[in-house]
Amino acid sequence: MAETMNGLRRTSYCGKLSKANVGKEEVVCGWVQKQRDKGHLIFVDLRDRTGVVQLVFDDNTDREIFEKAASVRAEYVLMAKGIVREREAANTEISTGEIEMFVTELRVLSKAQTPPFEITDKSKVKEELRLKYRYLDLRRKTLQDNMIMRHNIAKVTREYFYENDFLEIETPMLMKSTPEGARDYLVPSRVHHGKFYALPQSPQIYKQLLMLSGYDRYIQLARCFRDEDLRADRQPEFTQVDLEMSFVDQEDIMELLEGYMKRLFKEVLNVDLSIPMQKLTYNQAMERYGSDKPDTRFGMEIIDLSEQVKGCGFGVFTDAMEQGGSVRAIVAKNAASTLTRKAIDKLTEQAKGIGAKGLAYIRWADEKPNCSFAKFFTEEELTSLLNFLGCEQGDVVLIVADKNKVVLPTLGQLRLTLGKQLDLIPEGMYNFLWITEFPFFEWDEDSQTWLAMHHPFTMPLEECLPYIDSDPGSVRAKAYDMVLNGVELLSGSIRITDYELQQKMFESLGLTKEEIEAKFGFLVDAYKYGAPPHGGAAFGLDRIAMTMCGVDNLRDVVAFPKVQNASELMSECPSEVNPQSLIDLAIAVTEEEK
Ligand code: AMO
Ligand code: AMP
Repeated sequence: MAETMNGLRRTSYCGKLSKANVGKEEVVCGWVQKQRDKGHLIFVDLRDRTGVVQLVFDDNTDREIFEKAASVRAEYVLMAKGIVREREAANTEISTGEIEMFVTELRVLSKAQTPPFEITDKSKVKEELRLKYRYLDLRRKTLQDNMIMRHNIAKVTREYFYENDFLEIETPMLMKSTPEGARDYLVPSRVHHGKFYALPQSPQIYKQLLMLSGYDRYIQLARCFRDEDLRADRQPEFTQVDLEMSFVDQEDIMELLEGYMKRLFKEVLNVDLSIPMQKLTYNQAMERYGSDKPDTRFGMEIIDLSEQVKGCGFGVFTDAMEQGGSVRAIVAKNAASTLTRKAIDKLTEQAKGIGAKGLAYIRWADEKPNCSFAKFFTEEELTSLLNFLGCEQGDVVLIVADKNKVVLPTLGQLRLTLGKQLDLIPEGMYNFLWITEFPFFEWDEDSQTWLAMHHPFTMPLEECLPYIDSDPGSVRAKAYDMVLNGVELLSGSIRITDYELQQKMFESLGLTKEEIEAKFGFLVDAYKYGAPPHGGAAFGLDRIAMTMCGVDNLRDVVAFPKVQNASELMSECPSEVNPQSLIDLAIAVTEEEK
């Protein structure tokens, strides 16, 4: 039988005890990390969310307490009263390493079976097992620290926005389908058979309406749901720091958000960010880094070779240019020893996976460079190309020829692969930048239509308004992303507040009058009754936490995450439901789907 606390009250967290408590009587509670029985001497490391303290039992300990201490096992929950004393041999690895507690009263509040894995960062167990027993894994220090960091992020976030006159307003979870572009999670209505709510992909529509209603500055730590394929930086449900502001332009919003990041990094990590942050237009980012979320912690920028290879005899290059494409390269300095032929073959496979037809290379390991297209180039041409690229012996050049929409992303991804492979990414660096002037439209090959790259309420740049019909691909928007170390942290835009223009943008996106009415009728109507100019943005809170905790998967900063196939291994959801629930909802599940 477990004991009760019986009037005993905790006086301190385990990890908070220090030399300042020496000589005092304290009461601590926690889980047994480890018990070491040396016969006449027993040590118990007791753990709570603040750390570990060493409990000691020896010849001077009351026999009954000593026996109890001898019986405890890992993960038992204990309450211990005792005198804090200095340790004979200090342990510098833990914060309480200079002291220990000589126990005078001990309660076993709960016994524990042997857990399926040891609760330490060192234990090498499969992640599936950890996720099945997430409640145990969440006891681990690293995860606890991450959760606490996430809490601190949320706290500073609220403080910053409250101080800047933002109002926190909750928006519905059960709503009409949103315009964010991923697949919705649907919730069937019991009252209206055959009708469904959608869980919000974001509070976009509601926050715009709040601006029309005069709330001026809105903030919400909003849960969002998107039924899309999971990745390391994507969970099907996640949290946004969602905001909207009236009577502002893009620069005002960006300035406020830079201030938020500066404050957050100072308070949570004690890191001083320098602001204003660097800005690149979307086109510049694509040309230089082959990505709209470039990792600028290292160079290896993309170089356009089109001019240099214009008249060459290599059909792959000249054909690509004749078809309106280009020939571009990245140079891996001093990489010839790492980038063997075999390694380059692997990169070629990667390039093909992205959509390139091949990968040409110059590997300058020995005196004479080894060039995959040597037979089409004279020695002078090759020398001139290497000079243009600023290459020296030891370097490797990777070249892709194709349409720009293949060349740039391919080199962009190879650049990232090489950044990791060649260890070019410095630790402890936070490279923020803004990407601006995103295209408004994005051509979707599958549906053969234009889609809104951000969302259809995004304001095009004034200078682009004349081209909406004639050249949609060139229309840029007042849309901006904040990127940190290659992770898109935030997206936002200035919204369209002009009723006529909004109609026009919807139509350009191929929506019929009926579709506009059915999907966004209430929103379009709302703009007829007095709309302040407004704009906003949303940060991925999980992604902020991920970068601040220095981990590369959202799972490590989400208390109960989903895995690749969108299931949760602990509770085993999604799951079948009771047949009566389906009857109530008038839903039939077909055999095939079962
Ligand atoms: P967007 O769709 O770009 O914009 O989302 C904003 C930010 O939310 C984060 N994010 C995610 N984080 C984890 N898992 C996901 N599946 C996921 N999807 C998005 C990213 C992203 O930058 N309503 C607009 C914002 C606006 O215009 O105000 C929106 O939702 O960090
Ligand atoms: P080939 O003459 O086909 O052997 O090609 C010579 C080199 O050009 C090989 O290294 C190919 O991988 C490479 N190559 C083929 N297509 C492309 C392309 N679109 N862009 C860059 N290199 C290519």
